[in-house]
Amino acid sequence: MNNSNNKMTLLLLGSGGRESAIAWKLSQSSLLKQLYIAPGNGGTNSYGINVSISPLDFDSVKDFVLSHDVNMVIAGNEDPLVAGIYDYFSNDTELKNIPVIGPSKNGAQLEGSKDFAKQFMMRHNIPTARYLSVTAENIQEGYDFLNTLEAPYVLKADGLAAGKGVLIINNLSEAKDELKKMLNGKFGASSATVVIEEFLSGIECSVFALTDGNSYKILPVAKDYKRIGEGDTGLNTGGMGAVSPVSFADKEFMDKVVSRIVEPTINGLKAENITYKGFIFLGLINVKGNPMVIEYNVRMGDPETEVVMPRIKSDLLQLLCGVANSNLSDYDLEIDPRYAVTVMAVSSGYPESYAKGKVIYNIDMVSNEATILFHAGTKLNENGLVTSGGRVIAATSLASTKEEALKLSYTALNTIDFEGKYFRRDIGFDIK
Ligand code: AMP
Ligand code: GLY
Repeated sequence: MNNSNNKMTLLLLGSGGRESAIAWKLSQSSLLKQLYIAPGNGGTNSYGINVSISPLDFDSVKDFVLSHDVNMVIAGNEDPLVAGIYDYFSNDTELKNIPVIGPSKNGAQLEGSKDFAKQFMMRHNIPTARYLSVTAENIQEGYDFLNTLEAPYVLKADGLAAGKGVLIINNLSEAKDELKKMLNGKFGASSATVVIEEFLSGIECSVFALTDGNSYKILPVAKDYKRIGEGDTGLNTGGMGAVSPVSFADKEFMDKVVSRIVEPTINGLKAENITYKGFIFLGLINVKGNPMVIEYNVRMGDPETEVVMPRIKSDLLQLLCGVANSNLSDYDLEIDPRYAVTVMAVSSGYPESYAKGKVIYNIDMVSNEATILFHAGTKLNENGLVTSGGRVIAATSLASTKEEALKLSYTALNTIDFEGKYFRRDIGFDIK
């Protein structure tokens, strides 16, 4: 790859609010020549050029990378990583010198297989809930294990299930029925293996580490709000908002996160010869002051990225070059001490069925410098900017207090309009 004195051409894969925030941040880099986003959305083209390629179509990605002199590929979402885009590049003679930011296919199993992740945590003594992995062959052991647990019961499809593969069930016989349904294909092949877990109670947060495989940087900690309704009620969504920093993730807590989770994870990957050069997302729960891992993801979170990126003062592309060149420790990560919040405007009906193609009005009237609108499910068509997804636009604001930041974001979302617009007005309600 180019050394960092040369300006770079980048290809970012993905199309959500997370990719908008990454694209926004990369577009400010002094090392950037050209940013492409595949496929991008109705907002990402203000930071670069959208190209209509599916991130899972590796052959088309290859053609584009070679024909446009791309110097680095950044995977925004997990799908291409779990499908092996890192290995596709490193095994190809024409692509092998072009770094992909993200883990190898093996490393992506931390997200792609919950059973793999649990076994990895056991091997490296990383604190997580007690569990048993079950297939159709040992379903009886699964029932027996459920009998030893107290309600509620946690059942997780082993594989990727578009964020829907985790069930939390209050009643034992219902949990047994659901276990059987999952093993019989409720989530297709993803639930041929089910991880049964002890339920942990506590408050959750999202910790992100950027690693070159040896050293790491801890990015700003965030908390997301997954339920559709205020007070964390109703159906689970991809995420309705996020805040950063997180008051309970203080120095004492973060020291434990680093020594008990981040370092054993990075050292464990290294000890097992698993190549991992990218973002590690630790979904954590604070159990009486002790962090435990709920899940690993092999990418940034959405909508957490919409509050993490605006708090990074350093040049993100420089850090990514440090990842690619295995000298991340040479760079500093400078964080903005201000509060960042993001609030997601979604389409009425989401996370169930919802209409698309609704015209989005008044976007240009949001002119406050402290507020950034990150497009998620938007696209440009003959009617102008229209909705194209459940999560439509995230309004991120920075201010010296959470309350001030929230006020700015709510004002922005009251200004923009589309038919069926809904957003939560209690983001950050449960923390200081
Ligand atoms: P996931 O789809 O893996 O992000 O899980 C969805 C949500 O289920 C998590 O964000 C937690 O709120 C919850 N969850 C998962 N595992 C557990 C557990 N062992 N104890 C309590 N809550 C859990
Ligand atoms: N906000 C949670 C996730 O991105 O998985």
